[in-house]
Amino acid sequence: MAHERVPLTFPPGFRWGVATSSHQFEGDNLNNQWHAWEQTGHVKPGEICGKAADWWEHAEQDFDRARQMGLNSLRLSLEWSRIEPRPGTWDDAAIARYRQMLQGLRDRDLEPLVTLHHFTNPLWLEERGAFLAPDAVERFERYVTHAVEQLGDLCDFWCTINEPNVYSVMGYQLGVFPPGRKGDFRATVRVGATLARAHAAAYRAIHRLQPAARVGWAQSLIVFDPARPGNRLDRMVARLQDLAYNDFFPHAIQTGQARPLISALAGDLSEVRGTCDYVGFNLYFRYLVRLSLRHAAELFGERSVPPGAICGDVDDDAQYGELFPAGIERMAKAMAALGKPVYVTESGVSDRHDTWRPWVIARGVKAMHDALAGGVDLRGYYHWSLVDNFEWREGWRMRFGLFGLDERTQQRARRPSADLLGAIARANALTPDMVATYAPASLDEIFG
Ligand code: BGC
Repeated sequence: MAHERVPLTFPPGFRWGVATSSHQFEGDNLNNQWHAWEQTGHVKPGEICGKAADWWEHAEQDFDRARQMGLNSLRLSLEWSRIEPRPGTWDDAAIARYRQMLQGLRDRDLEPLVTLHHFTNPLWLEERGAFLAPDAVERFERYVTHAVEQLGDLCDFWCTINEPNVYSVMGYQLGVFPPGRKGDFRATVRVGATLARAHAAAYRAIHRLQPAARVGWAQSLIVFDPARPGNRLDRMVARLQDLAYNDFFPHAIQTGQARPLISALAGDLSEVRGTCDYVGFNLYFRYLVRLSLRHAAELFGERSVPPGAICGDVDDDAQYGELFPAGIERMAKAMAALGKPVYVTESGVSDRHDTWRPWVIARGVKAMHDALAGGVDLRGYYHWSLVDNFEWREGWRMRFGLFGLDERTQQRARRPSADLLGAIARANALTPDMVATYAPASLDEIFG
């Protein structure tokens, strides 16, 4: 007998949104370290962010798109270098524009989730050593306090820092984000630890001003599985990669400590313990890991993707793994160990022709439904992203938008995935009809 396909429904009030960031969307952020980095040809192939998606002038037109889709939330970030262009100097016009944007979201019934740091630093902070500067934590706390004093009546849902592990690993270990240091393990750990202290200081500063605020951070997670599941050494090196990449921040927040091998470098993290009201995580990829003595710098783990795996539009030299929306269930369960509500603060794919995105969305929604059924207090999903945007070191060649963007003309073109996510948000459910329309090949994978 044919199996009856039942819609996957979500709890009332579940958040369906999109995630964005200031540098990647606003345009003309000329006073941060990424702008300087772009000027020196570090972005492939020599591209710059330029006007980005022109949000400083016209964000509201995209807010209309999000509203028309039927979303109920939108994640954006504040650009520190606009708000505090010089140390201790606050720009009222920048605050006025952010007030207008947050009000614009509220007017459209889109709850703002506001990130306070998404990879970019004011140039003056970068020149002092960024998060290696002795006063970085106080500086961050002061900026956060100012932002919350000025904007707190329009937002009480904050994400302190986006992907602290990406910021430290890309900037100080791999050298592909500014400041471009390679293999500086000490600095990688010290930056990670300082970001944890900056997060904790921001958490407390926000709660002093807004006792009922919801404050968390967005953790980048990658799934690491053993290439040969039966092989104990592969399992060990996969676990090592998991610890090295995924674990530092959640562990510091859960225990107020770093793991033994790095605790001397990380310093005292006791003040970090318990500083979150929710856990946000960003999940895109999985790697298979096998023991390899040739890969000492990667903790003896050689990463690969299975033959034929779906990776999105990537070049061979890009560091993107196998797309793995199913991993949302496992990671949501792992993050639930912190005892707080969980949000998927990013998931998505670079996919110019919208070939895989509908599957990424539908399979991710199924994974969230499974996590909820398994008892996880999962509260929302933010797709990266609403429109194509400037993808850091990859520049404009990667296309993560539900809407395509021609960055020269600023024309948008709706991709079918926008209709799928909109239908899910409006129904607060994923139905077999939606999957049959947008991602038919995955019907069995999703509805059994
Ligand atoms: C970041 C975004 C980025 C996205 C896609 C995340 O690591 O938070 O800024 O554009 O992934 O790579």
